[in-house]
Amino acid sequence: MTRWMHWAILPLLTQALAASPEQSAPESKQLNARAADGYASPPFYPTPHGGWASEWAEAYEKAYQVVSNMTLAEKVNLTTGTGFFMGPCVGQTGSAPRFGIPNLCLQDSPLGIRNSDHNTAFPPGISTGATFNKELMYARGVAIGQEARGKGVNVQLGPSVGPLGRKPRGGRNWEGFGADPTLQAIGGAQTIKGMQSTGVIATLKHLIGYEQEMYRMSSVITQGYSSNIDDRTLHELYLWPFAEGVRAGVGSIMTAYNSVNSSACSQNSKLLNDILKNELGFQGFVMTDWLGHYGGVSSALAGLDMAMPGDGAVPLFGDSYWASELSTSILNGSVPVNRLNDMVSRIVATWYKLGQNKDYPLPNFSTNTQSAEGEIYPGALLSPIGVVNQFVNVQGDHNITARAVAREAITLLKNDGHVLPLHPSDSLKVFGTDAGANSGGLNSCTDQGCDNGVLAMGWGSGTARFPYLITPQEAIANITENVKFYITDSFPSDVAANASDIAVVFINADSGENYITVENNPGDRTAAGLYAWHKGDDLVKAAAEKFSTVVVVVHTVGPILMENWIELDSVKAVLVAHLPGQEAGDSLTDVLFGDYSPSGHMPYTIPRNESDYPASVGIIDNHPFGQIQDTFTEGLYVDYRHFLNANITPRYPFGHGLSYTTFNLSKPSLSIVTPLDSAYPPAASPVGSTPKYNDSIPNPSEVAWSSTTFTRIWRYLYPYLDNPQSITASDKYPYPDGYSTTPLPQARAGGGPGGNPALFATAFSLQVQVTNTGKRPGKAVAQLYVELPSSLGLDTPSLQLRQFDKTKELAPGQSQTLTLEVTRKDVSVWDVVLQDWKAPLNGDGIKFWVGQSVADLPVECTLDDGCSIS
Ligand SMILES: *[C@@H]1O[C@H](CO)[C@@H](O)[C@H](O)[C@H]1NC(C)=O
Ligand SMILES: *[C@@H]1O[C@H](CO)[C@@H](O)[C@H](O)[C@H]1NC(C)=O
Ligand SMILES: *[C@@H]1O[C@H](CO)[C@@H](O)[C@H](O)[C@H]1NC(C)=O
Ligand SMILES: *[C@@H]1O[C@H](CO)[C@@H](O)[C@H](O)[C@H]1NC(C)=O
Ligand SMILES: *[C@@H]1O[C@H](CO)[C@@H](O)[C@H](O)[C@H]1NC(C)=O
Ligand SMILES: *[C@@H]1O[C@H](CO)[C@@H](O)[C@H](O)[C@H]1NC(C)=O
Ligand SMILES: *[C@@H]1O[C@H](CO)[C@@H](O)[C@H](O)[C@H]1NC(C)=O
Ligand SMILES: *[C@@H]1O[C@H](CO)[C@@H](O)[C@H](O)[C@H]1NC(C)=O
Ligand SMILES: *[C@@H]1O[C@H](CO)[C@@H](O)[C@H](O)[C@H]1NC(C)=O
Ligand SMILES: *[C@@H]1O[C@H](CO)[C@@H](O)[C@H](O)[C@H]1NC(C)=O
Ligand SMILES: *[C@@H]1O[C@H](CO)[C@@H](O)[C@H](O)[C@H]1NC(C)=O
Repeated sequence: MTRWMHWAILPLLTQALAASPEQSAPESKQLNARAADGYASPPFYPTPHGGWASEWAEAYEKAYQVVSNMTLAEKVNLTTGTGFFMGPCVGQTGSAPRFGIPNLCLQDSPLGIRNSDHNTAFPPGISTGATFNKELMYARGVAIGQEARGKGVNVQLGPSVGPLGRKPRGGRNWEGFGADPTLQAIGGAQTIKGMQSTGVIATLKHLIGYEQEMYRMSSVITQGYSSNIDDRTLHELYLWPFAEGVRAGVGSIMTAYNSVNSSACSQNSKLLNDILKNELGFQGFVMTDWLGHYGGVSSALAGLDMAMPGDGAVPLFGDSYWASELSTSILNGSVPVNRLNDMVSRIVATWYKLGQNKDYPLPNFSTNTQSAEGEIYPGALLSPIGVVNQFVNVQGDHNITARAVAREAITLLKNDGHVLPLHPSDSLKVFGTDAGANSGGLNSCTDQGCDNGVLAMGWGSGTARFPYLITPQEAIANITENVKFYITDSFPSDVAANASDIAVVFINADSGENYITVENNPGDRTAAGLYAWHKGDDLVKAAAEKFSTVVVVVHTVGPILMENWIELDSVKAVLVAHLPGQEAGDSLTDVLFGDYSPSGHMPYTIPRNESDYPASVGIIDNHPFGQIQDTFTEGLYVDYRHFLNANITPRYPFGHGLSYTTFNLSKPSLSIVTPLDSAYPPAASPVGSTPKYNDSIPNPSEVAWSSTTFTRIWRYLYPYLDNPQSITASDKYPYPDGYSTTPLPQARAGGGPGGNPALFATAFSLQVQVTNTGKRPGKAVAQLYVELPSSLGLDTPSLQLRQFDKTKELAPGQSQTLTLEVTRKDVSVWDVVLQDWKAPLNGDGIKFWVGQSVADLPVECTLDDGCSIS
């Protein structure tokens, strides 16, 4: 059992065992759970079938040839994981060897290949978002995809666009791209397109409302929290990046652990059947998060397609809500055969769409061990031993991309007196353990579950092992000898300060996933709050007392309070380096010493005080009896939307980021591309037909153990049954209220992947010229925010980011014209009555603002008055 402990599954397991569960009851009590405060998830049945979208037609046709010939065992195999620790990857499906379909390998994480070797540890989503660079977002996706393919990963478990960043203390915000739906949407879509260009299936996660770590999971004795989200907020904030991901062609989507409106996401029919598969027209497959499968028939009916890693209520004991239980529920008629056919054709079609039927490598690594040899099925009590790691080097030249992302993420918040860039001849005193190495050794903390040395990523499953980690100390020492390092968090008493010395102080703030607690923070920053860890504020203050010039470098997962030192006279410059990944040191010195101007922008707001946020976005850290109800009462007003609405001036606004040079915006122009001659988009054409399978209940012999010849592995999950002939079909199943098998009409806002294609037609195009008016080369970001008119009759955030672009590196005096395109959806609000997107007729009254942060928007354009610059 010791082997399992490295995944920290044990607490969960013992918790589950202590409750002596009824293993025979795969149905979840949550299906009919009572919703709080009028938040209920209405039933929506049946699941719309995949296969009607033209982009997917060819793949579904290929899948049809195969799936229509599959036995029940083969079909169930592809829907269910083989069990926790039952193969080389964090999850793998069963196989269908007759059709050349192997056990599909599913592996973390959004920033690279987890638990492997000779891989790249890329900067995570939050740094990628801070670059505001679409090409780099794409390039990073390509590189992650190439590494996944090289290791034989079929389904890479990223990108993450949920959590969105509603809660500043939330543990996993750093895995996504920033606290704005458009930034998440563009970051996610670019990553998906890049990853999938290599043939890897990307997984967009976590659907939805997964905004804190604590009390996220359900088990036999407890229920994860319920995120209660009103329809408009869901559409305009949390669902927005998922819609763009579906439009980008993402192959799979992972559900969140938590409930929405008291119905668990992995079996919420409103969410999966209606919103995802009807309205957003998703054609790929939906999987659970690991051990986030809470019911058998209920989840199948609600639209789930794949159970991961396959285990049921008590992990590792060979039971599942699906596998042989799914075979049973097909034979007894509780799950309609056409639902299973749809699950399988979604999975197989995605496999074909990504071209994985041709020359796709099998896994050549093991997530379970770093050794060459090991158990093939570590979850089995007795497992065969064999070569599990071939140590395939998949790094290519990806360090160039990793370094470019880390460098372009670096955000200069303050630079009084042009203290930065440093000159190699400057006399430097460097403080803080965050400048150095992990004193326990590289990768010494499982899943990076500690804050020791330079903080290059958060902790949890969203990580990768570092092949190497270039620390700031190494990179600075490589540039100058005129430096003394104090790799300590308490300010040394014997430091001599010379008038010309520059102190560079490194501080950080960490967070991660709930199964690991670091320095009393159970994922979320409950203990640390929004302050720097390891008394970082004191270190800055002490340095500021002794030195007249202090540069602060911050590595952080999210918002951090700077009030204790930001206004001290000697704190001249602040660089937020976010989470840089393996190229931490070199990316920083690239900017610190002026080889590149900083060009990152804040992907969230830096507040002055945590009390600046609405009370509803605090972490709920007490577990009352029953299910925690986390009601999103702040609605649309998260991050900068809230600060603007509450008229609170933050310390640094969303989008803020200085450069070593200056930029001027000029010659703005606005043009209409597709007139908004109706408030609602024209109706989409009806969706096409989907494959017709034989929907009769198959012969039970297809899942009989007696039909197999292989050696059974104890605790491995199989589709087979001892005596399937004894199962008879019945219509006695207690279906949920509202259950129906009659296909429901196409959603009004649907009609294509992501929604009605008319929503995504470019409505307006805004051009602006950016000129480098300073003395050094640099890249500029133009951010476009829309202000929607009150004529829409809805309370709407005054400014919303809807588009951005970054220039190439501009030499002093050089200009580049950027084009910022805005779709119909970008200027629409969600009409909860008509269930459609409503735009101001002809665009009347929309204001378009362009600038370099949400608080610096000199360009204003309207259709009536054209553009002006203030
Ligand atoms: C949750 O409940 C709210 C309030 O009734 C409703 O507006 C929304 O559509 C529901 N969402 C889901 C996914 O059930
Ligand atoms: C099924 O397999 C047969 C051959 O075994 C093949 O001829 C046929 O095209 C396949 N597909 C369908 C839909 O029958
Ligand atoms: C189901 O998958 C297992 C591997 O996970 C494989 O051994 C078995 O042969 C598969 N069954 C069929 C019918 O292909
Ligand atoms: C059919 O089988 C499933 C899985 O074992 C079970 O949950 C369900 O209650 C069964 N249905 C009937 C009508 O017995
Ligand atoms: C692992 O990948 C390498 C390189 O792509 C390949 O040569 C090898 O055959 C793969 N291993 C397996 C088991 O497919
Ligand atoms: C990437 O790694 C290669 C090989 O280790 C090295 O030569 C090169 O300098 C690195 N590039 C960057 C940008 O760090
Ligand atoms: C040290 O600097 C040299 C020259 O700039 C560079 O080629 C090398 O990659 C650097 N090494 C490290 C570890 O930063
Ligand atoms: C202070 O700086 C001057 C000029 O660089 C140098 O000559 C002197 O040795 C330094 N003193 C200390 C205590 O470092
Ligand atoms: C932050 O706000 C709280 C509550 O309003 C207040 O008690 C506290 O003094 C504030 N802290 C700072 C540093 O302003
Ligand atoms: C900046 O742009 C404005 C508006 O186009 C223009 O009037 C001004 O001269 C420009 N300044 C510089 C330094 O280019
Ligand atoms: C559909 O499947 C059933 C059960 O396996 C079989 O008896 C029947 O012949 C099939 N129908 C067709 C048209 O293939």
